[in-house]
Amino acid sequence: MQQVKIGIVGGGTVGSGVVRALERNGGLMASRLGVRLEIVRVAVRDARKRRGAELPSAIVTGDWKTVVHNPDVQVVVELIGGTTTAREVVLAALSHGKPVVTANKALLSAHGEELFAAARANNANLYYEGSVAGGIPIIKVLRESLVGNRILSIRGIVNGTCNYILTRMKLEGIDFAEALKEAQRLGYAEADPTLDVDGHDAAHKTGILASLAHGFWVQPREIHTEGIRGITRLDIQFAARLGYTIRLLGVVRTISPGRAPAKGARKRAAGPGIQVAVYPALVPDSHVLASVNHAFNAVAVRGDIVGETLFYGRGAGGDPTSSAVLSDLADAALDLKHGSHDRVPAFVPHDRGGHVVPMDSVPCRYYVRLAVLDRPGVFAKIAAVLAKAGIGISSIIQPEGHEGESVPVILMIHDAPDGKVKGAMARIATLDNVKGPPVMIRVEGAGEGA
Ligand code: NAP
Ligand code: HSE
Repeated sequence: MQQVKIGIVGGGTVGSGVVRALERNGGLMASRLGVRLEIVRVAVRDARKRRGAELPSAIVTGDWKTVVHNPDVQVVVELIGGTTTAREVVLAALSHGKPVVTANKALLSAHGEELFAAARANNANLYYEGSVAGGIPIIKVLRESLVGNRILSIRGIVNGTCNYILTRMKLEGIDFAEALKEAQRLGYAEADPTLDVDGHDAAHKTGILASLAHGFWVQPREIHTEGIRGITRLDIQFAARLGYTIRLLGVVRTISPGRAPAKGARKRAAGPGIQVAVYPALVPDSHVLASVNHAFNAVAVRGDIVGETLFYGRGAGGDPTSSAVLSDLADAALDLKHGSHDRVPAFVPHDRGGHVVPMDSVPCRYYVRLAVLDRPGVFAKIAAVLAKAGIGISSIIQPEGHEGESVPVILMIHDAPDGKVKGAMARIATLDNVKGPPVMIRVEGAGEGA
């Protein structure tokens, strides 16, 4: 049977997971594909580190170049993370015309366009199923299965670490730091966990999904990004009392549909304006995303023809990510077998008029928690500021049982441009009887594509 020889750069959580997974199911894959995948080299930072029985010492090296430049290696798998050496590894492999598999969303987010161009220039391909949502095959879904749809919205829980932390804070009342430590122990978190908790990892993934869905590469700086550090158990509890669960969401939504050029006009067609953002949000308990717990991910995609679809699975950890890497290896092996490196190109730019709408003008709904002095007339002053800004309130609640100098007041705000709500809240913070800055968390709708 034909063999495809693989070199892996990175033997950590995912790298050793891929080795284990191929040991377990390599025979099955060979019988399905008619090609046997064989790992011939694995590069790590420290070749002398004890790694148990996971990586056979004979194939382990401390020098990634000996993997990439090895003439026997036909496919290079980059699993070291980061954007510096990883970029060198991928470019070096592509320059030899070798297909590359990566799970590195930070790298793609920062250098996607350059890497895809290098792949095209060298008649090689770049596969990245493992980069978004772990074991959920969402890249394939957007590139292949939903290729006949305009994508109207994507809403996803795409960071397992944050979802794990929020779940444990809600269900067990444990604190943020303890939950993060546990996520690190379980291999969910990035080497630098600030990438997870500050929303950057979710932004990398959301940007990749947005780019695939809309055909222009979304730059990291265009993605409005908030993490979960500011989410307290108090807000998780208040949200629960109101029938919501707090989740970190990646959101891609068409805000303006774009337009064709007027007949005879010289102006180019304007592409769609899209929202691309990551933020914690109150999700109604009736919505399926609210019941996605622990390190699970879920991505809801709405297409103009298919309607609403939902993809669910384990979003972080060695095994689910290895499953995605194996699927890429299978594609790479079949492409080598059939000499078809561009059967499904890594990324095809196709909507150069598309653009990201600044967050300030995106309509958002909010949960706002204020600390106020319990005096007559406070509500009236708050309501007056909002009325002047043209912002509607759907409810005001003063939860009972809170004593002290100030008491919490929860406002639920109707849809209004994000910048306008923030401006009004900054004015409310300066009112005499309002203590401290308001806590503001967006609220997602329950409806289809809301
Ligand atoms: P990890 O556990 O920290 O492993 C990184 C590996 O890369 C280690 O084996 C390390 O060697 C090796 N390495 C680092 N620098 C190197 C260099 N210059 N040359 C050779 N080897 C080097 O990371 P991971 O969790 O497996 O993540 C790998 C990639 O997959 C990242 O891009 C990550 O974002 C992505 N990813 C991870 C997950 C997950 O759940 N963990 C899920 C999806 C995607 P030593 O072992 O000697 O230190
Ligand atoms: N740190 C990432 C997460 C790994 O927690 O989702 C999977 O990409």
